[in-house]
Amino acid sequence: MQNDSYNTGGFYAFLFSMVFSLGFFFYIVMIHPGVDLKEVTTTVVGAEQTLAGAPKNVDVSKIDNPWIENEDMAAHGAKVYANVCAVCHGPKGAGDGPAGMSLVPKPRNLIEGGWKQGGDSISLFVTLQKGVPGSSMAPFGHLPVKDRWGLVQYMRSITKDKPKDDPAKLEAFAKTAQ
Ligand code: HEC
Repeated sequence: MQNDSYNTGGFYAFLFSMVFSLGFFFYIVMIHPGVDLKEVTTTVVGAEQTLAGAPKNVDVSKIDNPWIENEDMAAHGAKVYANVCAVCHGPKGAGDGPAGMSLVPKPRNLIEGGWKQGGDSISLFVTLQKGVPGSSMAPFGHLPVKDRWGLVQYMRSITKDKPKDDPAKLEAFAKTAQ
């Protein structure tokens, strides 16, 4: 006996899969909002968003005296901090970064301060230059000098322990600091 009936089940399955793929394609192209890659990065890096609110891109090349208190420098420092320091000192500077948990001595709580090497701008800059011997606090002299002043300003913007700077002394130091 000749089988002249079509394979209707298979045909419907085929039709259904075509409609489904087209529908899915349409959904991806027209409806799905897409994934904002920037958002993904910030959730991974984490700290940046929580630090300064919306991270601000600052063109520090236009700032001539990066040691003088300036919101833009501090915002720039906040970004560098999120990338380099937060892993030990914590996203907000409370000394609670994941890589700092088991260190002895523990990373400083930058908000409380209690600086062993001094908390004025010059001392903080020198700490970044030299690190703290005998601890996991490494020297960061390889960072561009404006990144380091940004870090100093950022730390002084979040800490409760902020000894006064002597502007003349600071300027004289900064002019020679590389
Ligand atoms: C590998 C972990 C680690 C990283 C990364 C790190 N630190 Fe530290 N930091 C420490 C530890 C540990 C101490 C405590 C040293 C001590 O108590 O003597 C410290 C201490 C400090 C101090 C206090 C020094 C003082 O006077 O008491 C400052 C300021 C500081 N860090 C700033 C920074 C900045 C800014 C960065 C990023 C550029 C950074 N640290 C990155 C571990 C780290």
